[in-house]
Amino acid sequence: MAGRSVVVGVGHYLPERVVPNSEFEKTLDTTDEWIRTRSGIERRHFAADDESTSDLATKAAEAALADAGLTVDDIDAIIVATSTADLTFPSAATMVQARLGMTKGFAFDVQAVCAGFVFALSNANALILSGQAKRVLVIGAETFSRIMDWTDRSTCVLFGDGAGALVLELQEGEGTSDDRGILATDLNSDGRYKDLLYVDGGVSTQSTGHLRMQGNQVFRHAVEKLAKTAETALGAAGLGSADVDWIVPHQANIRIIQGTAKKMGLPMENVVVTVQDHGNTSAASIPLALSVGKQRGQIKRGDLIVTEAIGGGLAWGAVVLRW
Ligand code: ACO
Repeated sequence: MAGRSVVVGVGHYLPERVVPNSEFEKTLDTTDEWIRTRSGIERRHFAADDESTSDLATKAAEAALADAGLTVDDIDAIIVATSTADLTFPSAATMVQARLGMTKGFAFDVQAVCAGFVFALSNANALILSGQAKRVLVIGAETFSRIMDWTDRSTCVLFGDGAGALVLELQEGEGTSDDRGILATDLNSDGRYKDLLYVDGGVSTQSTGHLRMQGNQVFRHAVEKLAKTAETALGAAGLGSADVDWIVPHQANIRIIQGTAKKMGLPMENVVVTVQDHGNTSAASIPLALSVGKQRGQIKRGDLIVTEAIGGGLAWGAVVLRW
């Protein structure tokens, strides 16, 4: 017998405003065709001026709780993966906690940029397996529209806002790879690559700053590191690519998604793709894709899923779970 962190609920929230690629043609030297062919993105959602990351996170959390048939009274901890919290402090997670009416347990944020949800899932799993929590609400939520340089065509067309959430619950498994729940995780970072992807401001430098990215350099690292972390996590679970029903990748660029699947020896029929509709929503992209994948009827109970993500840091990792 072995404890497992099993997904018992999933949900997401996307802001109302949808921005098609054509809108950028009005203000930038770019085209819908360039954005589609280089990134796979067709549209993205942007939060309203009075909508913040914790608003998006709260709505996604409510959807996941409803899907699980649970209330906040059943939850021991909340983790929000985000790089765009409402305030410097308190954490977005404690703001979500208050909004949900939860007055016990604990809540905190995890910051690993686009890899944030994978890091948050791994942390939630560790809390559950070490007996510190039985049920954890794990949320990825971002408002990257707030850190875009709208004059930089090489970045501002790529990102979007949104939120997704999972409820993880301690259940007993057999201790084999047939168990439902998180089977293995693999986390990595290498701070030497800071200059490839960062925000040129922050509290300690007294500004908000804008996202800066050497896209082609990040691209170069992405496929190789993502395929390797996915294979490492699968190996730790005693599994291989052939066992995978769904890759649910961080949705940054369709060419990275295709390249990683190919390197893993899997066809695109085994990949949940939402980048065309959401753009890159950073830490929100994986839970958004899990929720949409379930809604579409792609992801079913018992399916073996590998999630993988890379982002600023660089930080990257993968989680293998059975749905
Ligand atoms: N419209 C038209 N032309 C553009 C645009 C645009 N929106 N943006 C850039 N270009 C131009 C460039 O200026 C360049 O022109 P030049 O050759 O005259 O200098 C040309 O297009 C090619 O630029 P590249 O950057 O080499 O294009 P590439 O094919 O690499 O695609 C992209 C760019 C989409 C950014 C890609 O590199 C990418 O997706 N990179 C990875 C992004 C990513 O995965 N990020 C990780 C997670 S994000 C996070 O952690 C926050």
